[in-house]
Formats: sequence, structure tokens, C-alpha cells
Amino acid sequence: MIYLDNAATSFPKPPLVSRAMAYAVEHCANPGRSGHAPALEAGRIILQARERMAAFFGLDDPMCVLFTLNCTDALNLVIQGMIRPGQHVVTTSLEHNSVLRPLFHLQQSRGITWSVATPDENGQVQPNQIRRLITPRTALVIVTHASNVTGIVQPVEEIASLCQGKGLPLLVDGAQAGGILDISLPRLDADFYAFAGHKGLLGPQGIGGLLLGSDLRPLPLRQGGTGSASSELSQPRDLPDLYESGTAPTPAIAGLGASLEYLDRFAPALRRHESHLTSALLEGLRKIPQVHLLSDPPAGIPRVGVVSFNLGDMDSSEAADQLWRRGQIACRSGLHCAPYTHAFYGTETRGAVRLSIGAFNTQREIDAALRVIHNLAQEVPCS
Ligand SMILES: Cc1ncc(COP(=O)(O)O)c(C=O)c1O
Repeated sequence: MIYLDNAATSFPKPPLVSRAMAYAVEHCANPGRSGHAPALEAGRIILQARERMAAFFGLDDPMCVLFTLNCTDALNLVIQGMIRPGQHVVTTSLEHNSVLRPLFHLQQSRGITWSVATPDENGQVQPNQIRRLITPRTALVIVTHASNVTGIVQPVEEIASLCQGKGLPLLVDGAQAGGILDISLPRLDADFYAFAGHKGLLGPQGIGGLLLGSDLRPLPLRQGGTGSASSELSQPRDLPDLYESGTAPTPAIAGLGASLEYLDRFAPALRRHESHLTSALLEGLRKIPQVHLLSDPPAGIPRVGVVSFNLGDMDSSEAADQLWRRGQIACRSGLHCAPYTHAFYGTETRGAVRLSIGAFNTQREIDAALRVIHNLAQEVPCS
């Protein structure tokens, strides 16, 4: 198999991830609830992962790292916890349904309104596009760091400084950027950064989170047991207990802690490797006349290893199916949970084939995938 679906979830994981998860299952009890050794061991592992996560993103305070189920959960925490009835949100047409659906839900349930900024010819949403949509009722700006369809990195630093100037909170969806780009949250200066532990951060499924970059605190989505201040009926105000009710997914957090240990050593080399493979993939695809890349900006426009295309008039699901049958290429087709992105690129009906490169892909795999795509393309007329 040639696994090119790393934007959905990275695969495989570094071997120390499963070892750390097995250790947690075998040695850890419920963290923060009891004083015996297995409970303390769970607490130690979670704190260590929180500290590694904070250090990885340049945060001084590990308590500003909140663990959630996945990136969707973290996005919901901010969107549902920040926006009051009648308020307005500015977002972009590059967002995932994990942003669009909570906004639509609040439109229906709280009467909020929202506006959508579109990208330029290079696939980037410029701050000016955001600025012109801001109204006196705007209470939040939401921007993806890297599109999960085109892979194009957005000018989030410039958008953050626009938001700072207007006194508006900024939520960045880092699902496709965390672990892949070199990110310092203090330098980026966003109020909230949502991450998926199981994609570029190379952790297991079942873990995501939110990085708090300012003093803003959304209302928590859940209340419940934290093992702290148990005599009080009101939710503790301290971080991370304000947001982390219920038993923590210790094995998943242990796995993320281990993948961060791996990234601490290898992230710079992996970034160079992925960027090299992405360039090779793009170069090969450009040579196939039937290939239509959704977004192919000039060199210099930053991107992650996510590349979407169509082959002539072929349906994207049919193309992905053929790639799997002929070359065991694991990729994804369809709309990738980003309907507005496809509407922008005119592919809302058939979607696109998405190849997404990960840390463990090789040049041989890219060459082999290109050969299979080239052969399949011979059966498709140029559109
Ligand atoms: C840009 C973007 N945002 C959010 C998500 C949701 O992430 P998760 O599946 O961890 O909830 C994804 C998942 O593919 C994504 O690509």
C-alpha cells in the first residue's frame, strides 16, 4: 500500500506511540481522582504531554493546553462558547464542516450571522478580504491555517494583526498545520489555536485540543467531575479543569506525548522531507495533461503536503477507486468536508482526488503513485 491519506489521519505512527499507549493501559488508573500509584502515574503522563505540547508551540504555561476529543471538539468549544445571540462571525470559504456546521447551528439556534471571505488567485484569503466583512456586531474571526483541500497556507499572522488592531478574537483551525509547520503561538498571536493530535502531530486518534493564546475564556461546553473542588456545584475556574470534565483519555494522551517526543527530535528533518516530496508530486502531476490541479500557485506561496486534482472528466470517487485497485494507493475523493472550498473551485459536484503526504512517505512511493496516475490518465480524454 502507498498511504497518501495523511490529511485524514497520519499513518503509520512512530512505534513509540503504540508503546506509550500500551504502557498507559497497563499501568495507569484514573488521573487526578486518587492518591495511589497508578492514578499518580496517569497524572504524570498527562502533565508531561501537556508540557511537551506547550513547549512545541512556544507556550510558557502548560495549563493553556486543553485536551479535547479531536479538533472538531476544540473548534466547537470556542465557537459555541464565545458567540452570543445576535453576534456576527467572519470566516473563510476554505473552512472545514467542523467550523461551518457549528456556525450554521448557531445561526439556527441563536440567530447569529456569519460572512465568508474568499481566497485570491493563489488560494490565500488576504486580510483585506476579512476586513471588509467586519461589522460592529462581529465577535470572532475564524481562519484555517492550511486548507485541507488545496494545502495552501493562509496568511494567519497578518490576519492576527488585523484582528488585534480591531480588538477581535481570532480562532485558527490548525488541523492541517499542527506538527507540519513550525508554529509559535506567541509569535502568531492568535487567541485560540485548535489542533488534531492524530494528523501531523503523529499521535493516535481520540485526541485533539485547544491552545489558549490570550486571557479570553469561552464558556465550557460541558460541566462535570474534575477530581478538584468536589464540594462545589459550580465548575472549577482553574485551567484545565474548567474545560476538561470527566475521565481523561490517558492512553491517547500518552500516545500524543510520545509522538511529541519524536517530533522534538525529527520535526525539522520531516518538514524538509515532506516539502521535497510535495514538490516532486506536484512536478509529476503537472506533466500529465489530463490532470487538473485545483490550486497551483507559483513557488513561494507556502503549502503543506495536500494536493487535490481531477483527471479529465472522471468522477473523483471513480478515480480514487481505480488508484486503489491498480496501485494500492490509499487516498481520498469527494468534498473532504469542505463544501465552500469546492464551490469556489467549481468542483462542488464531483469533488476532487486528494493525495496527502506524511512523514513516512518515500520518493519511491511518490514515483510509483505518479506512474499509476499517468497510466490511468491515458484512458481519460483531456477535458
Ligand atoms: C481543516 C480541518 N479542520 C478540522 C478537521 C477536523 O479534525 P478532527 O477530525 O480531528 O475533528 C479536519 C479534519 O480533517 C480538517 O482537515
